[in-house]
Amino acid sequence: MPNSNVIIIGSGIAALTAAYQLSMRKNVIIITKSKKTNSNSILAQGGVAASIGMDDSWHSHYRDTLLAGCDHNRVDTVEVLVKMGPKYMLELIKEGMQFDKDANNQLLLGKEGAHSTRRILHAGGDATGRALVLHMLEKIKKRVDIIEDQTAVDLIIENGQCIGVETLTRDGNLQSYFSNCIVLATGGCGALYSFTSNDETITGDGLAMAYRAGAELTDLEFIQFHPTLLNKNGTSCGLVSEAVRGEGAILVDENGRQIMKGKHPLLDLAPRDIVSRALFKEMLKGHKIYLDIRMVKDFDTHFPTIAQLCKTNGIDIETGLIPVIPGAHFLMGGVKTDAKGRTSIPGLYAIGEVACTGVHGANRLASNSLLEGVVFGNIVADDILKIQSNQLDIRPSAFKITQQQNISIKLPTKEQIRKIMMENVGIVRNKDRLLFAIAWFEIYKQKLDEYVLSSFTKEQLEISNMIMVGWIIATSALKRTESRGGHFREEFPDENNQCWHKKELIRTRHLEE
Ligand code: SIN
Repeated sequence: MPNSNVIIIGSGIAALTAAYQLSMRKNVIIITKSKKTNSNSILAQGGVAASIGMDDSWHSHYRDTLLAGCDHNRVDTVEVLVKMGPKYMLELIKEGMQFDKDANNQLLLGKEGAHSTRRILHAGGDATGRALVLHMLEKIKKRVDIIEDQTAVDLIIENGQCIGVETLTRDGNLQSYFSNCIVLATGGCGALYSFTSNDETITGDGLAMAYRAGAELTDLEFIQFHPTLLNKNGTSCGLVSEAVRGEGAILVDENGRQIMKGKHPLLDLAPRDIVSRALFKEMLKGHKIYLDIRMVKDFDTHFPTIAQLCKTNGIDIETGLIPVIPGAHFLMGGVKTDAKGRTSIPGLYAIGEVACTGVHGANRLASNSLLEGVVFGNIVADDILKIQSNQLDIRPSAFKITQQQNISIKLPTKEQIRKIMMENVGIVRNKDRLLFAIAWFEIYKQKLDEYVLSSFTKEQLEISNMIMVGWIIATSALKRTESRGGHFREEFPDENNQCWHKKELIRTRHLEE
């Protein structure tokens, strides 16, 4: 069993989509460090963007994606995303996925920031990710082995090729899985920040493993901060979808002043980086931020997940005001791939948020992430299926299980890392704060070099990955001396097209050594 044709690490929508397609002809296993339902995909509220409306076109979706991405996107992969999106959505619907419809059985299309028209497919009102993930889990139930509670420690590289992955089991055993096709689908890095919409398991593991293996990473400085996380006494506790602003809600301060007035022609539906920075500035001035939902009709029916989230956290939506705070939401960069999801290491693919296909540029357009997961999950599966089956044959190497020898090492806590990242590598950055964060990470990075990761506990592994990824983000952010999308430098507040237009910051361990 530990040998398999294809091994997928992670269980979000990209992983499940690829697993489903591959499972028709291959033996596929999914390995996840927690439960199969722990992912950012399942938390996604807004929906899936696809130009299927009568008055819509892929050109329009393409333009909106480039505009939000500050023209840092790879145009070839954006074209694939927006052209293939409608096809894969219609396939999903044909296979039984239930998106919300009106009384005439027509798909209901929502509106979100920076989209020029209504094109967001949604399910259960604001539970799209959940509906999609459960739909796919049902599809693969009898076809794919899902191994839960097993943490990927490192990729196994032989002669420059990825041939497997070493994992740590719940019982503290080390296990090696071998395959010629390993697919990273571990998500981004939201849990590196104090305020985040992400699942707490999203600690940048795939990014750190790929980096240690020598893969190219890129665009790590571009982090999207979502303007509206639910704010409970100064801590974030879940997302309040942009779709709420799409239905007319506005951002106000404690005096009822509309914050986005005069700041951008699209007001509350301006690109997320612009709205988040505007809110951040208001917070620095001591203002509190609320989402005024009084103009949204039938809030509970439209947004049952958010209504429940507010209730659980003791926030009374009858007041019409939901306290919100901006926080880390999405990583635009990641493990660099080509248009087929192949990384720079043969045998290693990356899909979903851990990958940088270039579709999001410097700032992702709302509801393009589930779309990316579905489209590139399918593309990677197609590419793997084209590989001659003899090339996919299971490697003869014996799989090994060994009992882990734990060691003790003084590392920072996750909370300390999150505070460092939020305060120094957050919504607004500057040279001094970035240098401070880099120096802080380097102390631990050097210490980590003295140890082998296979002697670490799950918690130690996650913290090591957070240190590695925090350091890469901070060093990338220091190098980019301009502001663009999800990367804002106080000293360089504008885009600098002369020096930085379409310029990627590629990071590899080999280059930095
Ligand atoms: C949201 O519902 O506001 C988030 C959707 C997304 O990030 O695409």
